[in-house]
Amino acid sequence: MKTSGIGPDAKSVEQLDRAVVFLGPPGAGKGTQAKELAKKYGVPHLSTGDMLRENIAKCTPLGEKAKPIMERGELVPDSLVLKMVAHRIEEPDCAHGFVFDGFPRTVAQAQYLGELLKQHGYKRALVVHFAIDPSLLLRRITGRRMCKVGGEIYNIYERPPKCDLRCDNDGGELEQRPDDREDIVSPRLQAYEKQTAPLVAYYRRLGRLHDVDASQSVSAVAHQVVEIVRGAR
Ligand code: AP5
Repeated sequence: MKTSGIGPDAKSVEQLDRAVVFLGPPGAGKGTQAKELAKKYGVPHLSTGDMLRENIAKCTPLGEKAKPIMERGELVPDSLVLKMVAHRIEEPDCAHGFVFDGFPRTVAQAQYLGELLKQHGYKRALVVHFAIDPSLLLRRITGRRMCKVGGEIYNIYERPPKCDLRCDNDGGELEQRPDDREDIVSPRLQAYEKQTAPLVAYYRRLGRLHDVDASQSVSAVAHQVVEIVRGAR
C-alpha cells in the first residue's frame, strides 16, 4: 500500500527526520516520487488519496461519505481529511519523518498541518512543488494504471509494464482509478486551481517552497527532489 513504511535502502544511512510535502496538480508525478523518496529514507508514504480509497474499499463511514465526492472530482471536506491525517501521524512508523502526497490541499489544511507538526515536535515541513506543463497532465492521468496488490504506478503511454496489464513486481492485475476517466479530469484540475494552487503562494511567502520541473523524466525529477531534501538539512 502507498501509505505503508518499509525499511530504508540498505545503502542509505541518511535520516529524513521531518515532514516532506509534495504539492502539485493531479498527474504531476507526486505519488511516483513519494514512493521513491519514502523508500530511500525508510519512512511512510502518506497519500491521503490512498487512505480515502482504502476507506472506500472497506466501506467505512468515512469511505461512504468520500466516495461520491471523489467520483465527482471534488475535494473531500477538510473536517474529514484532517481527522484521518491526525490519527495517521501518531502511528509509531512516523517517528522519523514521512512524505505527504496530496496533503495539504487547502490553506486550512496547511495551517492545521503546521500546528500538528509543532504539537508533535517535528521540524517545519519541507514543501516540494511539482511545476509542470499542463498539456502533459491529461495523458499522464488517463494513461495511469495501478497495481491492485502493491499499488505500483504505471502509465500505458510513458511507463508501461513489461507484460500486458500485470505488475512487474508481483504480477498483480493493473487497474484504472475511477476518477482517472477523461470526463473527471477537468473537475479535478479545476479543484486544484481553485483550492490547492493558492498553497504555492502560501508556502512561497513562508520561504518553504522548493520547485521541481516535473515535466522531466521520472529519474530526472527524482534527482531534483533528493537534491532539495539534502540541501535543506
Ligand atoms: P489523489 O489520489 O491525491 O490524486 P491527485 O492529487 O489528483 O494526484 P494523482 O494521484 O492523480 O497524481 P500524482 O501527482 O500522484 O501522479 P502519479 O505519480 O500517480 O486524490 C484523489 C482524490 O482524493 C481527490 O480528487 C480528492 O477527492 C480526494 N483527496 C485526496 N487528498 C485530499 C485532501 N488532502 N483533501 C481533500 N480531498 C482529498 O503519476 C501520474 C501518471 O504519470 C502515472 O501514470 C505515472 O506513471 C506517470 N508519471 C509520473 N511521473 C512521470 C514522469 N516524470 N514522466 C512521465 N510519466 C510520469
